[in-house]
Amino acid sequence: MKQELYQELGGLDKLREIIDTFVDTMFDDVMIGFFFRKNSKQMLKDREFEFAAQFLGADVKYTGKPLGAAHKNHKIKNGQFSRRKQIFKETLESYDVPKHIIDLLMEHTESFRVPITKTKNSDSVARQSDTKLS
Ligand code: HEM
Ligand code: HEM
Repeated sequence: MKQELYQELGGLDKLREIIDTFVDTMFDDVMIGFFFRKNSKQMLKDREFEFAAQFLGADVKYTGKPLGAAHKNHKIKNGQFSRRKQIFKETLESYDVPKHIIDLLMEHTESFRVPITKTKNSDSVARQSDTKLS
């Protein structure tokens, strides 16, 4: 049951901790950290938490912009998208999140590849080869 996913993961406090670590790791990442130079880390943590919690069936509402609009000023490439996906996966694994929940979150992430990487100067046609990173 979808409603039980966030509980199975360890509840909202645990999800909050996981997302905090995930966002910290992205901000410090040598490959994609530069995207976030002008962003408030706390704001992004809050929005990412809401987004994940809502997906995992918690009674939390995502209050940010639609994802396509939120990323349209950044020329995010396929490889950079894959890097975020990999950091998320490694973070979830480091918190011993059950594999079927990680798989669902990876699928959910993948479903946004096109809207997020499809910008004017994009190299994006969602490529199967990238999904192998998962
Ligand atoms: C598929 C692989 C990669 C692609 C397609 C890619 C593409 C790009 C592009 C297009 C930019 C300019 C972005 C912008 O200014 O909006 C950029 C910047 C950057 N890339 Fe990559 N990159 C790749 C791999 C990497 C790797 C492996 C690293 C480091 C380990 C890296 C580190 C950086 C850094 C630090 C910048 C920012 C430079 C700056 O503005 O100071 N990239 N990359
Ligand atoms: C499925 C994948 C992704 C999700 C779920 C996601 C989620 C989010 C959310 C919820 C926000 C806040 C939106 C708002 O402020 O209203 C955001 C903003 C942002 N994201 Fe992502 N993101 C994804 C992929 C990426 C990737 C691959 C990168 C770069 C490598 C990235 C870089 C950013 C940046 C720089 C912002 C701040 C935008 C701005 O203020 O101009 N995101 N993201």
